[in-house]
Amino acid sequence: MTKTNTDMNNAPSLTAEQRQVVTKMRTLIAEVRKHNNAYYVMDEPVISDNEYDQLRLSLISLEERHPELTQTDSPTASVGDDPLPSFSQVEHDIPMLSLGNVFNFDDLTEFMRRVNDRLNPANQNPGYEIEMKLDGLAVSLKYLKGRFVRGVTRGDGQTGEDITQNVKTINNIPLVIEAARDIEVLEVRGEVLMPKAGFKRLNRLAEEKGDKTFANPRNAAAGSLRQLDPAVAANRPLAFYAYSVNQGLPEDIKLQSGALSWLQQIGFTVSRFELVNTAEQVQQYYESMIEERDSLPFEIDGMVIKVDELALQNQLGALSREPRWATAYKFPAETVMTKLNAIEWQVGRTGQITPVGKLEPVQVGGVTVSNVTLHNFGEIQRLDVRAGDTVSVHRAGDVIPKVTRVWHELRPDNTQPVTLPTHCPVCGSPVVLPEGEALARCTGELFCPAQQQEALIHFVSRKAMDIDGLGERWLISFFEQGIVKTVADIYHLHEHQDELVNFEKLGEKSVSNMLNAIEESKKTTLSRFIYALGIRGVGETTAQNLAQHFGDLPPLMQANIDQLLETQDIGTITAELIYNFFRAQHNIEVIEELQQAGVHWDKVEQGTMDDLPLAGQTWVITGTLVTSGMSRDEAKDKLQALGAKVSGSVSSKTSALLAGEKAGSKLTRAESLGVRVVLEDEFLQMIGK
Ligand code: IVH
Repeated sequence: MTKTNTDMNNAPSLTAEQRQVVTKMRTLIAEVRKHNNAYYVMDEPVISDNEYDQLRLSLISLEERHPELTQTDSPTASVGDDPLPSFSQVEHDIPMLSLGNVFNFDDLTEFMRRVNDRLNPANQNPGYEIEMKLDGLAVSLKYLKGRFVRGVTRGDGQTGEDITQNVKTINNIPLVIEAARDIEVLEVRGEVLMPKAGFKRLNRLAEEKGDKTFANPRNAAAGSLRQLDPAVAANRPLAFYAYSVNQGLPEDIKLQSGALSWLQQIGFTVSRFELVNTAEQVQQYYESMIEERDSLPFEIDGMVIKVDELALQNQLGALSREPRWATAYKFPAETVMTKLNAIEWQVGRTGQITPVGKLEPVQVGGVTVSNVTLHNFGEIQRLDVRAGDTVSVHRAGDVIPKVTRVWHELRPDNTQPVTLPTHCPVCGSPVVLPEGEALARCTGELFCPAQQQEALIHFVSRKAMDIDGLGERWLISFFEQGIVKTVADIYHLHEHQDELVNFEKLGEKSVSNMLNAIEESKKTTLSRFIYALGIRGVGETTAQNLAQHFGDLPPLMQANIDQLLETQDIGTITAELIYNFFRAQHNIEVIEELQQAGVHWDKVEQGTMDDLPLAGQTWVITGTLVTSGMSRDEAKDKLQALGAKVSGSVSSKTSALLAGEKAGSKLTRAESLGVRVVLEDEFLQMIGK
């Protein structure tokens, strides 16, 4: 195949489609080149290896489909890791090979089958040795009569860079090996890496100084080894892990595992290894290492499986770039590129509208990912992401997958910017994006099916309508059965009595208890009712303040923003949320229905909080209120009606402690702080009983 550089301006013979292909190729070529340079020359990759591979593969597959359009300068023709010119070049005595990869159990058994095919029957099913695949740089160390003489990088496998001076600064590399004095030439190979802790420290220091940080420990290690000034390299926290002896191994050592033990004996650091016989055992160890991976002091990106017997390794030999006796079992990629097919909007249980990216399904970190949260509209704008884009998705450990990069370079024509929906995709109510908030919200609140379940649970809760007899579990089943949709439907449950009795495990007795509790809840207080509505930003205290300020529901519902702002402790955001809540027709209808069903309260004596007898005071309640039989929540309602704030713990700021029977540590604390203690009788007098 002859490659051509297609000059599009001078190529009238190209069809429109071919032109498009060439444009795409040129884009991919520019990308691959850029990342080649970032990785190999600058030691500063901006994307993961896997993303890089995927980019390269897209280019290769395009070239395979259109060989006639393949560009002469395509980087797919070369491997990119040419040695740096600044260090002197050294040819390896024995080429430094790379490793083939397997990615799953099937690949692994296939690898073992190929090994068996090449071994004569007596040697079949050899023992294997498994090591960690350390994520650093391969380095060859040469010793003459036990003295370290040279350190060389892998380079292109034939020729590497002489980094002797930098290697000498690595603390755990022995410079003199007594036990190897009689060995003419000893060549040890292994991985130079930067432990995670050192990497973090290095980056923190760089950040403090305003210097560039490294993308990951491997690149920090690479950058450090390639420092032209050994003094700089000396300050980098590097470590060497030996994994093979390529020259000078004592003849009585016959196994790879034996070589590792020997290396350790003579002063090298080696990582642990495991001996196994079957693919199942490899798989088990591999899976246990995936679990352990995050807690290791250095990064590993897979396991390496080696035929343990060195004589068999020799028999098996090597292909051009990789041995037949070993392979890497890579861990699942944690960052993967895929296409974002669509962006959909989901409505959460509290009305927040969040964008969800629908992906072309991909394997990330070992699981298939087809949805990814895009968090909020601001995130979409920050990423500048559109349906149709190619994105990188990252997932590590149990972390929720996220989009870490949008490939704007690869964006197809005709994509549209994303806009925030104006109406809720579930109920059609208008969507608002409150100022200062990241999340857009559906204004359907009590009406929106996506929010109803949450609204129901809140409505019956203890501090709201306090319908104890109607448990959350039943409420959810009624909701799922369609018997209860809005909070108002709770007060029509008695119309379904027959149906309820037939509910599994819900007998006549429980139904009648439930209906009684519902009936009793009809008499409530205004502040509880306001709180029960579940208006965003309106907690118990705000509800209390609103009840106090407006005295009854109609003036609150009709209040404009300015009037709402006059209420104690209410700011613009909450005022707006309240205002909007009472403007939504659905909400008004539900409130009317609740009142028609008999929900009622006493008007609250109006006045500002300041006029109330306990205004400005903070009370704490403890013990059991025996005389009145009041629950603590009821006592709290009373105290709040008198203007007090009620808190859960006693401090020097507490104005008074209301102490019932069997008061414990709170009473002791109040006494020691000299806080006023009010007994139940005095309290009953205060509230006029
Ligand atoms: S053995 C011919 N063992 O992985 C055998 N390599 O993808 C080649 N690596 O260039 C090396 N940990 O930099 C071996 N325990 C280990 C390894 C390991 C990491 C690296 C090494 C090599 C690359 C091949």
